[in-house]
Amino acid sequence: MNGKVHVMDHPLVAHKLTILRDKNTSVKDFRELVSEIGMLITYEATRDLALTTCEVETPICKTTAPMLKGKKFAVVPILRAGLGLVDGVLRMVPSARVGHIGLYRDEETLEPVKYFCKMPKDVAERDVLIVDPMLATGGSAEAAIGFMKEYGCTAIKLMVLLAAPEGIARIQKSHPDVDIYCGAVDERLNENGYIVPGLGDAGDRIFGTK
Ligand code: PRP
Ligand code: URA
Repeated sequence: MNGKVHVMDHPLVAHKLTILRDKNTSVKDFRELVSEIGMLITYEATRDLALTTCEVETPICKTTAPMLKGKKFAVVPILRAGLGLVDGVLRMVPSARVGHIGLYRDEETLEPVKYFCKMPKDVAERDVLIVDPMLATGGSAEAAIGFMKEYGCTAIKLMVLLAAPEGIARIQKSHPDVDIYCGAVDERLNENGYIVPGLGDAGDRIFGTK
């Protein structure tokens, strides 16, 4: 069975994505919006975190109330653009550890090339959320998920802002155990592997490198 695709159905996400798409949005606003949308999608991507109960004394009485079970969580950005989402995830899950995977797309083959990898020691025991603003051909995310599996990870989710149908199909085929959380699913890829309508080059827009 394929992994599920959870598309955010929320007016705040829809509104913020529209501003992100606008080519006139400043680097500062773009960066802030990526972080905010990342926070909102994290809300959905953590919906199944395990809860336990604890005793708490309110100003009125003692009661039993839910709290997170404390299962270990790691966020893994795909460098560079994935870095823009880390802050939003950490605001929701402050105790998360952060692993980094450096990948870039070869401009001709569109295949991912790995240049960096650093993980928390116990990452195999953690719930892993891989984050990247864009799921285009799916090559980068497919490789990143593969690397995490080589580390022994078994509970992996993928969070993106925009996904192309081609990228979703690739992940569902190669990693059917991984659910995808995304802000929106766009129409298609263009001949250069960019998402249409998309938002352009996410890394360049976050870091102001163009
Ligand atoms: C972008 C994006 C993804 C990848 C998506 O990164 O952030 O990682 O492309 O494309 P794919 O689904 O076809 O693999 P890029 O390679 O431009 O590197 P950057 O983050 O350093 O800008
Ligand atoms: N990477 C990006 O940054 N944007 C796209 O549209 C596709 C891949």
